[in-house]
Amino acid sequence: MNLKKIIQKDIENALIKIGLIDCNPIIISNKKIELGHYQLNNLIKIASISKLEPYELFKIIIFNMKKEHEYMYKKITFSQPGFINIFINNHWISEQLEKIFISSRLGINYVKSQNIVIDYSSPNIAKEMHVGHLRSTIIGDVMARTLDFLGHNVIRANHIGDWGTQFGMLIAYLENKKLKNYDISLSKLEEFYCKAKKKYDIDQLFAKKSREYVVKLQNGDQYCYSIWKKLVSITMVENYKIYKRLNVTLKENHTMGESLYNKMLPNIIQDLQKKKIAIKKDGSIIVFLKEFKNRLGESMGVVIQKQDQGFLYSTTDIACFKYRYQILHADRIIYYTDSRQNQHLMQAWTIAKKANYISQDLSLEHHMFGMMLSKNKRPFKTRDGNTIKLSALLDEAIERAMYLIKNKKSNLSKKKLTQLANIIGISAVKYADLSKNRNTNYVFDWDEMLSFEGNTAPYIQYAYTRIISILKKSIIPINKLKEKIILKKTSEINLAIKILEFEEIILLISKRGTPHILCKYLYQLATSFSNFYQNCSILFSKKIKTRKTRLKLSILTAKTLKKGLNMLGITVVKKM
Ligand code: ARG
Repeated sequence: MNLKKIIQKDIENALIKIGLIDCNPIIISNKKIELGHYQLNNLIKIASISKLEPYELFKIIIFNMKKEHEYMYKKITFSQPGFINIFINNHWISEQLEKIFISSRLGINYVKSQNIVIDYSSPNIAKEMHVGHLRSTIIGDVMARTLDFLGHNVIRANHIGDWGTQFGMLIAYLENKKLKNYDISLSKLEEFYCKAKKKYDIDQLFAKKSREYVVKLQNGDQYCYSIWKKLVSITMVENYKIYKRLNVTLKENHTMGESLYNKMLPNIIQDLQKKKIAIKKDGSIIVFLKEFKNRLGESMGVVIQKQDQGFLYSTTDIACFKYRYQILHADRIIYYTDSRQNQHLMQAWTIAKKANYISQDLSLEHHMFGMMLSKNKRPFKTRDGNTIKLSALLDEAIERAMYLIKNKKSNLSKKKLTQLANIIGISAVKYADLSKNRNTNYVFDWDEMLSFEGNTAPYIQYAYTRIISILKKSIIPINKLKEKIILKKTSEINLAIKILEFEEIILLISKRGTPHILCKYLYQLATSFSNFYQNCSILFSKKIKTRKTRLKLSILTAKTLKKGLNMLGITVVKKM
């Protein structure tokens, strides 16, 4: 149910009838329900375009609204200097709630399905995931879950960095170590990787060997390939442990790393030269793009093959666009990578378009995000200035949650305590991130995220458990709640309207990829419930009909909270 959309459409239709197109009426939910559930906010502006007085325009609009949805609107009023207040009929709201109540999808319809590739998480091989990977991984996953739910064909693409010169160095370095079966931990591997890089810069012989190994690997040499496979596996085994802890839906079959496109690269280079998009300059193959200017105002050059024949990150992404469009038939491709990669993506995109690898109307969206900062507003790092490993961050979250729960509840068994601490700790970290607008940096604050007050995971999870415990105490079984919902009190209506808003929120996220809107919504839903609970007795209301209405509202709230949290990849608990 997208009530705002319905209202907006009714108003738009009225405006079209008098020749006003593209006026974009802005509908907002009213904070004070006494003034109407919704309000048209830009009547004055539209009136000035139409050259009518706001009140005259109001009369035209209201006439059409009534004609379209007579029963839905209870009252539509005008207030000075130019607002339209819209009151929705309570019976109509109840009827919508009834539909949601019996629906397994909370009344949310499937949309027209598209093939949507979501490129997210995408860590690099031979390195542990660090806090910088959190945002891409969890925001991307919310988007994947949301689009899945709406019925799209979602292709999760974990574009891991599993190709490039670094593998030559690593193979050469590990060979010197004479390791048995290459059985090493990921942290050791990362240490070797750093050392190999240093050695490469100072030791010419080592550098030569490394380069030879890269070439061998690229040509499918068995020996190099098997070591490379092992390195990828050591890394990904650890990454999947993190995905599992984070409750994200990425699985092995979603891995589509850089290596996947390796075979396409020579042809791409040839083809781009043939099409006169790329040229050879000083031994390298370069595409000059007039769409991008360097500091001197000249067309920017994107190198796609180095002098030593090696390919680059851009070359892979050009091939990757081609693959996603031509093989995966993507209608839409969404990237969750930090903002520093924007220029790179746009350049690869421009080249792929020029070469006709993708259609002009394929939509590319780079959903950028800001950084995590520590309390002093500096990048979030360890005391000695190193990046914080994601696994260490999650460990700390659990430890802190454990401390919190132990202080509140001492009677839990050790197993239960650990389970609960895991859920609370990790949910808190995820929610703290997801509830911030992804476009901005945010300050990572343990105390704030683990608080039971405010827009936090513990608050929402707790609100859920409270409803469950109310429902448990009810002597009326759920299947006996057959009577229609009757809305009377303001807090009942407020809650009801909030429940109806869920679909609108889900659709918004599916367009913008901004989970913070859902967090804000869940928070408002939980506070609307708490308000309703304070003002309306649920279990002890005198009339049985009222009690049933209120139980139904409680069930709807719980279901919506659960589904909403589930979209965020956050688990609910029955008790806290
Ligand atoms: N592996 C890259 C990194 O860690 C992110 C890859 C993003 N996806 C892409 N198709 N380039 O920065």
